[in-house]
Amino acid sequence: MGRFVVCDHPLIQHKMTFLRDKNTDTKQFRELVDELSTLLAYEVTRDIPLETVKIETPVTEAEGRVVAGRMLGLIPILRAGLGMVDGMLKLLPSAKVGHIGLYRDPETLKPVEYYFSLPSDVTERELIVLDPMLATGGSANAAIQSLKEKGCRPSKLVCLIAAPEGVKAVQDAHPEVDIFVAALDKCLNDHGYIVPGLGDAGDRLYGTK
Ligand code: URA
Repeated sequence: MGRFVVCDHPLIQHKMTFLRDKNTDTKQFRELVDELSTLLAYEVTRDIPLETVKIETPVTEAEGRVVAGRMLGLIPILRAGLGMVDGMLKLLPSAKVGHIGLYRDPETLKPVEYYFSLPSDVTERELIVLDPMLATGGSANAAIQSLKEKGCRPSKLVCLIAAPEGVKAVQDAHPEVDIFVAALDKCLNDHGYIVPGLGDAGDRLYGTK
């Protein structure tokens, strides 16, 4: 079973409180998502391999450890996942970015893919799927499934808030995927919103309703 990690660093908890607050405006909300994504990138990359290199300090020869050229890809699920990309790229500047667009069919309530675009070398990269809200898990599961069907390796899912229902759905469907979240909330309400949550992440990021 993949890891399920709640990244509860004090700075993350602090910023999450302001993110959830309904009085936080669009500009602040976007900045908070950006900062939280950078903090999550730090936790998510804790296991990336290092290699030893020789350097010279002004004083002597020395050995240092550097990231071992790992090839990463970020895959935001449109549209709210887009808000997490720049914050992640601050720490992972060589990552490439693909996009998956999904909408929920009003009749079947199942996610339908309307956009799919991946970097050319995507099958060689370890992929990190981004979606701020893991609610039912329907979109995350559909995105991970699409990536697998195209021969890719989605190894991590990074969200700001998860509901237990969504975590279970992803673990059941894709047990090898590690899930990282900033907070695990109580449940979903009858409209599929996470409780207490933060409302609609896309609307709050882009000022839409
Ligand atoms: N998507 C959101 O943006 N918010 C929720 O609470 C659930 C799904």
